[in-house]
Order: sequence, then C-alpha cells, then structure tokens
Amino acid sequence: MIGFEIAPKVITIDGPAASGKSTIGQMLADRLGYLYLDTGSMYRTTTLAALKAEIDLADEAEVTRLARTIDMDIKPFTGETDGRQYTVLLNGDDVTWELRSPQVDTNVSLVSSFPGVRQELVRRQRQYGQSGRVVMVGRDIGTVVIPDAPLKLYVTASPEERARRRWLDRKDQGHTADYEAILADVNRRDQFDRSRTVSPLRPAKDAIIIDNTDRSPEDILEDILKLIRDRVKDDPISRT
Ligand code: DC
Repeated sequence: MIGFEIAPKVITIDGPAASGKSTIGQMLADRLGYLYLDTGSMYRTTTLAALKAEIDLADEAEVTRLARTIDMDIKPFTGETDGRQYTVLLNGDDVTWELRSPQVDTNVSLVSSFPGVRQELVRRQRQYGQSGRVVMVGRDIGTVVIPDAPLKLYVTASPEERARRRWLDRKDQGHTADYEAILADVNRRDQFDRSRTVSPLRPAKDAIIIDNTDRSPEDILEDILKLIRDRVKDDPISRT
C-alpha cells in the first residue's frame, strides 16, 4: 500500500459482462486497501429478494417497493476460503452464493431495467461512495452514480474473449458449457444493457478505456497503479 496514501477517494470501473472488471477491481481495491463494491451484486440481491418473496418479477411497482424495504449489506472479504470476494447479507442472511444461481441470472436484467429499482440502488451506492476509499464496479458508476469521481475506468474485451472466459469459468466449476450458446448470451446481454433507456451501458466521456482482450489482470493493474501515481504527481489537488 506504500505510495498510495493519496490515491483518489473513489475509483469507478464500468464495462460489459465478463470483461474482467471484477477481477481488476478486486485486485486494485486490495492493493489500495479500499472497499471493493460490486454493484451488480445489489441488482442480484434485489432480484433474489423478489424471487424469495414470490413476487411477479414483471410487476415493476411491487419489485420497486421491495427494493426500497430490503435490508442489504455488502461486507468486505475477511479471508473466507470458499472463493468469495465479499459477503452479501439480505435481511441478515448470507446470500453471497445464491446470487449466482441461474434463476437470478435469468431475471436480473429485467429487474435492473426498472427505473425505481435503479433510483433506490443508486441512492445506496452513493452512500458507499461518500464514505470514500472505495473501488466501485458496475455499468453506470462513472456516468450516473458518481459522475464526479476523480478516476473513472472502463474495461472492455471482445465478445469472443468474454465468452471464452465465461466458458472456462463454467468448466472450472464442473458445469457443462456450450461456447456458442455462451457467446450468444454475451451478445444478447450487451445489446440489452446498451439499449435500455435508463442508464445504458457506455463509457463516461472522461473515462480511461482499458482493452482487456489480450492482457493479464496483473499487467492491467500495474498500468492503473502507474496512472494513479502519475496523476497524483501531476495534480495532487484533484485526488479527492
Ligand atoms: O455484473 P453482473 O452480471 O453481476 O450484473 C448483474 C446485472 O445487473 C446485469 O444485468 C447488469 C446489471 N447492472 C446494472 O444495470 N448496473 C450496474 N451498476 C451493475 C449491474
């Protein structure tokens, strides 16, 4: 952590699904001693809460009401050995792994397209931002959630590379995986996330674009750390 005492208070990382932004975000947060906040997990938690409550997921008003009332908390990694990057509590229960279920996967795009749900989760995300020392990862963090963040990154990779990574992950987890089907799903989700009316996926005007197609996360992390060092050197005032 030496040398980063004056890193930006909030660092935003946006990008499409499976671009590698979570891995990079987690590594960066570790190096800086910051909280890693994966905002996708908040949309997933809301979706899971609606599934558990057996609400009709197409009932926007009901899902929005639920988003406003659930107790959701994201706790930093504390050395758990089951591969988690953080712990998510829903009404006090640990739901970290349930958030990855196929049922949540299928429904989370719909839930995250509801403006009232987004408004509520953005409000909660800004509270984390205000505490500072956070690397916040998502789709609209630099554009909508913290538009005045001092450092914004946008991580991307080709659809084929992202599908390949997801295919490898599934195989590692012991599931059967069909590359072509995964690629089609990646393209479908990109299309959905980019074309939705509320907070579509796109880089902020002042975001630094990082193409993660042929590079290792370690390489990219070094680039980002250099960027932080250079910025602080050039303009020590803008760090907060
Ligand atoms: O990153 P992920 O796959 O866990 O995200 C789950 C869903 O939430 C995905 O459909 C995109 C959406 N999402 C969003 O709309 N805005 C964010 N800031 C983060 C995720």
